[in-house]
Amino acid sequence: ARVDKGGHKHYMAKEIAEQPSVLTNALGFYIKDGRIELPGAGIDFTKIDRLTMVACGTAFYACLTAKYWFEQIARLPVDVDVASEFRYREPPITPGTAALFVSQSGETADTLAALRYCAGKADRILSVVNVPESSIARESDLALPILAGREIGVASTKAFTCQLIVLALLAVKAAQDRGEMDAEGVARALEQLTALPGLLNQALALGDRAAEVSRKLAEARDILFLGRGAMYPLAHEGALKLKEISYIHAEAYASGELKHGPIALVDKHVPVIVMAPRDALFEKTVSNMQEVMARGGKVLLITDAKGADEAGDGVWDTILMPEVADFVAPILYAVPAQLLAYHTAVAKGTDVDQPRNLAKSVTVE
Ligand code: G6P
Repeated sequence: ARVDKGGHKHYMAKEIAEQPSVLTNALGFYIKDGRIELPGAGIDFTKIDRLTMVACGTAFYACLTAKYWFEQIARLPVDVDVASEFRYREPPITPGTAALFVSQSGETADTLAALRYCAGKADRILSVVNVPESSIARESDLALPILAGREIGVASTKAFTCQLIVLALLAVKAAQDRGEMDAEGVARALEQLTALPGLLNQALALGDRAAEVSRKLAEARDILFLGRGAMYPLAHEGALKLKEISYIHAEAYASGELKHGPIALVDKHVPVIVMAPRDALFEKTVSNMQEVMARGGKVLLITDAKGADEAGDGVWDTILMPEVADFVAPILYAVPAQLLAYHTAVAKGTDVDQPRNLAKSVTVE
């Protein structure tokens, strides 16, 4: 069936706007009577002591984000790799390992090859997919749908946040199974996840603000993204989104790595986008920002009211986000990353839905 743009200028804009409703669908599918229910036989994490996650592109950054969740809340060791490296590296798969493949299309050649490498070696083959009848879904022991609906824009948006919400739910399930989270903790985590659609709606209302900032970003040749903790993978996703559709060179670094190289690039021409809710590590991020500002760098700070207050003066611009629980912050902060990429591309007049040289689904190596 043909999908229309629903009054939006681009599919990407429509898909960004759809996120509160598709996330609501995903939450409704997995949470029944206040409990997490997985389809089919589900998975028992008491039998798993290592998780290997493999994907490409945006789905890879969803995996990197989920690594923080699985390790922090479920104390489950996680390896993450891009499929093209994983498949030829031939990593040893030890007993007790579950292998998890994340793919919007479920047809990415490298990811499918990585899955086939793990078949017969890993205890369980899991996948997180948008297309339930895809090859990756069919060849998994358990395929978890993300229920994002068809995604047409080449740059993935709603599939990313839906992948994240399913992975977050899986991490909570792992924490519960492994005795790392009690009933109260689970209830709190589910509440935080359930609050997301409302918060995403508030973040979407920042569209005009993002468009304003983007007109300035569109003039840049290079842009750096910084983040710490689970915001670090999101910095990567922000940089990927921006280069995919605006063709501006963008790179992401862990905030703490700035001094080990990228600070050499900073001058008054390089915007540095800092994605930093006011969390436990915020103070450290503020000192990284000061290093940038001391060299004339232009900091665009994406944070909440408390963060903006603590960051003080000297930032180039600020995008003020609603306050959000640390656990789910990367899902909410995906929205400003998407909006900035989108509006920067619109300001540059590029082909947002069909960026040059890219394909929606890469089924050849
Ligand atoms: C292509 C797309 C990306 C996507 C990646 C992985 O490069 O342009 O948007 O993230 O493939 O695709 P998958 O379908 O496996 O998630």
